Amino acid sequence: MTAALPNRIPNDSARYLSDDPRQRLIVALDVSTAAAAQKIVAAVGDSALTYKVGMQLYTAVGPQVVRDLVASGRRVFLDLKYHDIPNTVGAAVAEAEKLGVSMLTVHAAGSGKMLRAAADAAKVRTDLIVLAVTVLTSMDGQDLEKIGVRGSVEDSVVRLATLALANGCQGVVTSAREASTIRAELGHNFAIVTPGVRPAGSSIGDQVRVVTPAEAIAAGASHIVVGRPITEAADPAAEARAILGQINS
Ligand code: C5P
Repeated sequence: MTAALPNRIPNDSARYLSDDPRQRLIVALDVSTAAAAQKIVAAVGDSALTYKVGMQLYTAVGPQVVRDLVASGRRVFLDLKYHDIPNTVGAAVAEAEKLGVSMLTVHAAGSGKMLRAAADAAKVRTDLIVLAVTVLTSMDGQDLEKIGVRGSVEDSVVRLATLALANGCQGVVTSAREASTIRAELGHNFAIVTPGVRPAGSSIGDQVRVVTPAEAIAAGASHIVVGRPITEAADPAAEARAILGQINS
């Protein structure tokens, strides 16, 4: 499928595709207490700059964990996957902006109007990246069909990414499997954040389809999200450094 290129893709690609591998690694803080989160951040040290706060940690401890991370000089990827009417999502994004987050997520399936409301609310800070979740990595073609979406996962991902970029979002969250197709169809001037990454040689846990950091970057990811391989490592800093090495290889 050939997608029309949206007009409002940011042209500052360096912002998304930095040479410093630390700009491309996001460590997921999937824990339930602020103390556990802080322990991971302290253990990782300077080996990562950006931390993902998702619905588990945010629901457990609230926004103070975000404020504390930002106050300590870390960047926060707030992964709450907003999906509601445009007015409500715009208001939530405005609050996230006030918390000082650097990246946040909305569901692309919420419609162009909702995506536009999110992007407009984030505009007050030029360095705030609104990412649209395309198709959850846990969903396959049969799951899509059961909710009334026809066609392949790949078609849906490209369609949703096109919608997101046309409505002012600066990037997408997608599996590394679809990243190369999105790059081929839509270019390079936007972020692609990919989860489901496992360092070469590590245990895959409950992940079914995984790629290595090098494979994700080669497929076109600008950022990778890594959780348990780092957070549950005996030496999280060493594991993060090993992943940085693989990003650069
Ligand atoms: O598996 P891991 O601990 O590295 O997961 C890190 C984050 O990536 C989790 O917070 C999860 O939400 C996300 N993830 C995902 N799709 C996957 C695997 C993980 O979105 N297939």
